[in-house]
Amino acid sequence: MALKSWSLLVAAFCLCHDGSTMKLPPPCDSSIYCTGELLHQVQMAKLFNDDKHFVDMKLKINPDVVLEAFQNLTATSPPRLTKEQLKLFVQTYFDSPGQEFEKWTPGDWGDHPRILHKISDQKLRLWATELHALWKSLGRKIKLDVQSHAELYSQIYVPKPLIVPGGRFREFYYW
Ligand SMILES: *[C@@H]1O[C@H](CO)[C@@H](O)[C@H](O)[C@H]1NC(C)=O
Repeated sequence: MALKSWSLLVAAFCLCHDGSTMKLPPPCDSSIYCTGELLHQVQMAKLFNDDKHFVDMKLKINPDVVLEAFQNLTATSPPRLTKEQLKLFVQTYFDSPGQEFEKWTPGDWGDHPRILHKISDQKLRLWATELHALWKSLGRKIKLDVQSHAELYSQIYVPKPLIVPGGRFREFYYW
């Protein structure tokens, strides 16, 4: 799940760490990425190996139209769609995760920083070289489209480039 919902979930968790059972507002106001029947059905059907996959997907068209299409579908067939129906629905209205980013290399990144030559142990130097290359593979910039079409993404737009943790964590943390 991208930043929009994670940060608020974390905030909500922190509010409640004293064990109180305060009724919390939804983690964000998206009826696709944060609450609602579509999210519920997709997650319960386990369409993807990773629970995070669906909420990282980009919408192809306006969320209101997608929700209407979902309501139409659940109105004409049993309210709980089959896994196949859900798969088709997601294919029709969503793009794969990661669409909000473009690659970015830090402006001051160089192939062979001098510090690497100072490491005499060959193994360690190789490791440091690979580590240094991560700046490039984890550097991202959020596309301008996320700013102009915020409703299609679960990622919040920020203008400056950023570094993601990697793997399934394709969004940024801390800011
Ligand atoms: C939902 O159904 C209504 C009534 O049949 C139709 O007019 C509308 O276009 C449908 N919406 C979508 C997004 O399929």
